[in-house]
Amino acid sequence: MSETNAIVIFGASGDLTRRKLIPSLYDLHRKGRLPENWRILGVARSDYSDDSFRDHVEAGVKEFAKATYDAKTWREFAKNITYFRGDITEFEQLKAIDKLLCEWEDDGKSNRLYYLSIAPNLYEETVTNLGAAKMVHEDHGWRRVVIEKPFGHDLASARHLNQVIHQVLSESQIYRIDHYLGKETVQNLLVFRFANSLYEPVWNRNYIDHVQITAAETVDVGHRANFYDGVGVMRDMMQNHVMQLLSLVAAEPPASFHAEAIRNEKAKVFSAIRPIRPPDVAGCTVRGQYRTYRDAEGVAAGSTTPTYAALRFYIDNWRWQGVPFYIRSGKALAAKATEITIFFKRPPHVMFPMPEGAKPAPNRLSICIQPDEGIHFSFQAKVPDTAAEMRDVEMSFHYEESFGALSIPEAYERLLLDVIKGDASLFTRSDAIELSWELIDPILEGWETNYAPPLSFYESGTWGPAEANHLIAHDGFHWVYGCGHDYEE
Ligand code: BG6
Repeated sequence: MSETNAIVIFGASGDLTRRKLIPSLYDLHRKGRLPENWRILGVARSDYSDDSFRDHVEAGVKEFAKATYDAKTWREFAKNITYFRGDITEFEQLKAIDKLLCEWEDDGKSNRLYYLSIAPNLYEETVTNLGAAKMVHEDHGWRRVVIEKPFGHDLASARHLNQVIHQVLSESQIYRIDHYLGKETVQNLLVFRFANSLYEPVWNRNYIDHVQITAAETVDVGHRANFYDGVGVMRDMMQNHVMQLLSLVAAEPPASFHAEAIRNEKAKVFSAIRPIRPPDVAGCTVRGQYRTYRDAEGVAAGSTTPTYAALRFYIDNWRWQGVPFYIRSGKALAAKATEITIFFKRPPHVMFPMPEGAKPAPNRLSICIQPDEGIHFSFQAKVPDTAAEMRDVEMSFHYEESFGALSIPEAYERLLLDVIKGDASLFTRSDAIELSWELIDPILEGWETNYAPPLSFYESGTWGPAEANHLIAHDGFHWVYGCGHDYEE
């Protein structure tokens, strides 16, 4: 008996489809990784024919998968793409989509992936309608639904959304996507920590002094202000991407590489993080806005939406007691860089002659998520031809050098393939989403009270507000960037 695999993209005329989804599916096809008998059905309200939709997404592949685009491979791939013009909030139209899919599917196994690349306020209605239209029954093959971020606006709405979709889908059918988990370097965090024996024994409060996580962007809100102004950096970057990085740095070793084992450990980290309660927000958080933000079209007059945040978290468990985790993220900053730096403790005693009060620099391990993906480790070396002078030197690994220039695939490629294979390890489970909101909500609430730190304005192209430096300097540290390097503010 044959098997069919339908990938249905709701909201197919949007940017995500053109920039990420189709280029990733094209690359999967090129690498021979898509299952047999697959097809893509794009669904949206825009007026495309099959051909004009194919042209539209081909332009996306030429632009975003430039290095791998090839006209012949594209033609083979594009044969399997069709388009349905319709409004998925209308039940009858969903039934029409179902009919179309049923005509293509034969009597064998028919699998379907529904990708919700639509406005978040349509998630609830769409999933409910999919259920009512009997499009999620798994009698003849699997039915999986991919839900893009943001998943909820706060804890209450995320909980509500979870409840609604659980009425229609089992947890194993739901794939809440966070594209950071699809990044090679993020996946490598687990390999680095748990496939090597060197670091795990020192990966704790006895040896680690503090941890910094930076997710800096040079882009500003651009044309996304309509969306962004109601969201801000805490909901757009912190609640999901940055918290996911933190959980992978801090997690206990999972017993196996299975989705549930990994997701259990991540959820445990979230439940051990000490929430920053409203009265503490001034001491533990910084909120900023780049100076020209309010000029962008779509931003409300006098908007206080933060485009930058820096936070200090503690994790109340045996491994991390007393180790501060500093995290920061912002738009319109000096560089695009996502990186994690672990600062180890200095040696307890220095036997070398050093000027009064001087100490050797701490060992630093930096995981460069992007760009220039790799790992750097800095340590002290003796400066040649001196008595005992020391200097920071570095050992480094770069993906490009070790694996070649095109070694890093687009994050969505891996994630889409995992959905097809039914591996949810790199997707967020309902409890983790809610636990993460439980940490973000009190900060956002605190920012609405008299306890709030001032909204600090910063110039575009800088490293954000000076208050973020004060936050970390207060504890005797300073931010690093460039994979663990000191830099000029
Ligand atoms: C998205 C955010 O989830 O991630 C954007 O909505 C942000 O605001 C983007 O720019 C950053 O992703 P990346 O992969 O470029 O770091």
